[in-house]
Amino acid sequence: MKAQLIDGKAVAAQIRAEVETAVAALASRGTPGLAVILVGEDPASEVYVRSKGRACEQVGIRSLTRKHPATISEAELLAEIDALNRDPLYHGILVQMPLPGHIDPQKVIEAVSPLKDVDCFHPFNVGRLVIGMSVFEPCTPAGIVELLTRYEIDPAGKHVVVLGRSNIVGKPMANLLVQKKAGANAVVTVAHSRAKDIAALTRQADILVAAIGQAEFVKGNMVKDGAVVIDVGINRVDDPTRERGYRLAGDVAFAEVAEKASFITPVPGGVGPMTIAMLLKNTVKAFELQMG
Ligand code: GUN
Repeated sequence: MKAQLIDGKAVAAQIRAEVETAVAALASRGTPGLAVILVGEDPASEVYVRSKGRACEQVGIRSLTRKHPATISEAELLAEIDALNRDPLYHGILVQMPLPGHIDPQKVIEAVSPLKDVDCFHPFNVGRLVIGMSVFEPCTPAGIVELLTRYEIDPAGKHVVVLGRSNIVGKPMANLLVQKKAGANAVVTVAHSRAKDIAALTRQADILVAAIGQAEFVKGNMVKDGAVVIDVGINRVDDPTRERGYRLAGDVAFAEVAEKASFITPVPGGVGPMTIAMLLKNTVKAFELQMG
């Protein structure tokens, strides 16, 4: 393998230790709190929500997990968010996505107070991000910027190709990296499944961020020699040789791309752990904002 591994697990552990120190330093003013709402029984979401709760407890953040059956009405969910908006114990509120079909996710996103919006999903916070005046930064894209920074990979002047245009990763990733500021200043292309020739775009990338949600979509011949490759994908692929019946695969065909890239993130242990670390950071930021 030619590429150097970007160890997200190690960087995330470092950030969690930093957050733990920050939480201890704030103790005289109170305890930051994060409320997580999970609707339904999506197994992947249950794993994420459990990890978030555990991560909070490890760094001294108060954690509340509210689980609801998939049959909860939209009105009931909105009422719970409203109560949490007014609850001084919880400074951050996160509603795990996706939601069941009868609930409008945009209504839910806009019900969360922008001051408690640690996901940075509310249009107020998205707008602030786009104009370079962010309050919060969205966890996964911010985690990727943090990885690049800590590995001294400066995106300034580089061509970043973001594969995928979701509101959770692709769009905010592009908006973060295009900003006129340290750790950004990139020239950004957002490519997606409707591109006429997607490989022609990805081959131009100095830094390729794959967030298209298809297992091993990015092949070796889609990557320029020496590119930095960031894999956001977490896909379950059937694997009868595993006890649990599946394995996790990223959006990048790791083995062949690692022969061409200069740096690459593994799955698992790359971007994933960073998302939770940045969520903890945002919860401390929310606490500070609300405590003045
Ligand atoms: N589902 C997948 N990723 C995320 C995330 O970062 N936040 C929330 N709330 N739901 C998600």
